[in-house]
Amino acid sequence: MIKVAPSLLSANFACLKDDIEKIENGKADWLHYDVMDGHFVPNISFGYSILKDVSKVTNLFLDVHLMISEPQKYVDEFIKSGANLIVFHIEAMENKEDTLALIHHIKENNVQVGISIKPNTPVDAIQDYLSLLDVVLVMSVEPGFGGQSFKEIALDKIKDLATRRKENSTHYLIEVDGGINATTGKQCKNAGVDVLVAGSYVFNSDDYTQRITSLK
Ligand code: DX5
Ligand code: ZN
Repeated sequence: MIKVAPSLLSANFACLKDDIEKIENGKADWLHYDVMDGHFVPNISFGYSILKDVSKVTNLFLDVHLMISEPQKYVDEFIKSGANLIVFHIEAMENKEDTLALIHHIKENNVQVGISIKPNTPVDAIQDYLSLLDVVLVMSVEPGFGGQSFKEIALDKIKDLATRRKENSTHYLIEVDGGINATTGKQCKNAGVDVLVAGSYVFNSDDYTQRITSLK
């Protein structure tokens, strides 16, 4: 069964607790938490102190998507604030040594680890890390904003990641993020995705449960 991870970026920030309760009742599997720094991406969202408060009002699995430069500088704060999974961008890393150190550091803290790739970054850029990851997050829009249209290039990457997983007997989940609705969600499911992130499709609706159900 596919997992659905509503992205809090499209929630009403003045009523976060209500919106979180609604997606819990609507059988969301994960909560996707988008962190933006105005540097790695041209937008600012929220940081770890809000994550800490969010973690106190939900039992949902907290999927933290770091769209920030130098993620290694801030990762401990997100770990302390209740992240269950931390996903950082390969494009934010300077070299292989730092990337491996960050993966191991997150794992040593008993938090799951993932790497995300932007639409123009090939899967080959993360080949060396695949066996170490719990999640690969394929961006199907340029990171930074909710409500953009799905880029089809993500489908080939999902298929490619599913093939590589089989060939190498690795275990990562494949997650897709950006422009997901019932139609694009189905395309991703057919390509072999495990986790669908959906922001505007879920939250710009009067019935979150119906939207989550339609993705499953
Ligand atoms: C975009 C974020 C996404 C965003 C998705 O940079 O990483 O998680 O919230 O929003 P939708 O589903 O509206 O494209
Ligand atoms: Zn995201």
